[in-house]
Amino acid sequence: MPAVDLLAGLREIVGDTHVVTDPDAVAPYAQDWTRRWHGKPLAVVRPATVAQVSAVVRACAVAGVPLVPQGGNTGLVGAGVPQDGEVVLSLTRLDSVGPLDPLGRTLMAGAGATLAQTQRAARSAGLDIGLDFSARDTATVGGIAATNAGGERVMRHGAARFRIRGLEAVLADGSVVRRMSGVSKDNTGYDLVQLMIGSEGTLGVITAVQLDLIRPHKIVGTALVAVRTVDDALTVLRAVQHEFTGLEAAEFFHHDGLQLVLEHERLARPFDRPHPLYLLFDLADDDGRPDTLEELTELLAGLDCVRDVVLVSTAADRRRLWELRELQTEAISAEGVPVKLDVALPLNQLTVFERRLAAVVRSVARHAVPILFGHIAEGNVHVNLLNAVEEDAQGAVTEAVLDLVASLGGSISAEHGIGLANRRWLPLTRSSADMTAMRAIKQALDPEGILSPGRMLPDPVETRK
Ligand code: MLT
Ligand code: ZN
Repeated sequence: MPAVDLLAGLREIVGDTHVVTDPDAVAPYAQDWTRRWHGKPLAVVRPATVAQVSAVVRACAVAGVPLVPQGGNTGLVGAGVPQDGEVVLSLTRLDSVGPLDPLGRTLMAGAGATLAQTQRAARSAGLDIGLDFSARDTATVGGIAATNAGGERVMRHGAARFRIRGLEAVLADGSVVRRMSGVSKDNTGYDLVQLMIGSEGTLGVITAVQLDLIRPHKIVGTALVAVRTVDDALTVLRAVQHEFTGLEAAEFFHHDGLQLVLEHERLARPFDRPHPLYLLFDLADDDGRPDTLEELTELLAGLDCVRDVVLVSTAADRRRLWELRELQTEAISAEGVPVKLDVALPLNQLTVFERRLAAVVRSVARHAVPILFGHIAEGNVHVNLLNAVEEDAQGAVTEAVLDLVASLGGSISAEHGIGLANRRWLPLTRSSADMTAMRAIKQALDPEGILSPGRMLPDPVETRK
């Protein structure tokens, strides 16, 4: 079918104004946030209902034109960005939030609702989503489900797949699967909900999500602890976990990242003098002890590896400390386009990884500047390499770092996914049996390769091993 016929068909389904082809209007959908991934889509289509999504998918399938679902476009691995000639299926108009079931503790949300919108709805009922990260105002729950997003609360409440009880998705032939009964025990056949979660738009278009709500604990304090090494940070973490049950989040960043945040965001420095590494954590009042903060102060004061501490309890002070961590992504991006990798290491290999990383990077990109931060409780390191994009044009830098990660028993993608960025290196940590099974699933659910082709699974010629 010629492209003009497809566009006419799409206009009939969603209305003229929601089939966007004007280059200026298309631009925000055609490039990702990092400026590293971009393409020239045939059009951006903005359906408002699941029936429209289904009809759009069917029309694209009939025309043989691939499509890429897109939410808030906050992904970092090119999974939601179009390649040339694809249709961008934007889900942002499916932004309903509710109903909330306080008894079953679930919240319905359209794929286009933002994380912040769902957080507000849950909190207004004294509950919470149990998921949080800095892109909360833009990232959508459809994208969160499709990428199995992680973030800052994973150590306590798990990644997205633990926070989603049901979902609705449109398959490659336009049919709709809906598993949103709210029943928390359901062993009826294959778990299609979990299969869709983390499939990055390659198996279906997620149109709605049923979130599993938690009863939040009150955060009594947030601590920023200055230490020398990652091992020191883990020592502090273990001591706090031994003494208290309410550790909610544990993050780390280095001096160079903090410096960028302070410069770009014009924030006040947290300590009089710089320190090599910072551990940031939230403590909730699970234990119901009246003097938690005093006890925490005493505990930290007794640890030799602690060089300095800022301990705060008001919401405004806590936010100020969290900004030092959450604004790292933006501050790095303001400095240049980084090679962004998102890896996880066994905790006992974190120090070895950090120690070897600099030399490994230098061997392939002499002027690269590594800036590391991340979610320390899961060994999740966000490796940002400034001044390395050119050397990484053929993937040399990415390969060197991911080889190191694999050799230490880590994961080459902790929470950002595979997308276009990491697909070549999937076989580093997935066996040929794994790859065959994944290809069989893709082939069964999307035999014509209509949904996000080329994402996640490498083309056979790309496979290194
Ligand atoms: C974060 O933890 O801030 C996000 O994963 C974003 C990033 O890695 O830049
Ligand atoms: Zn992260």
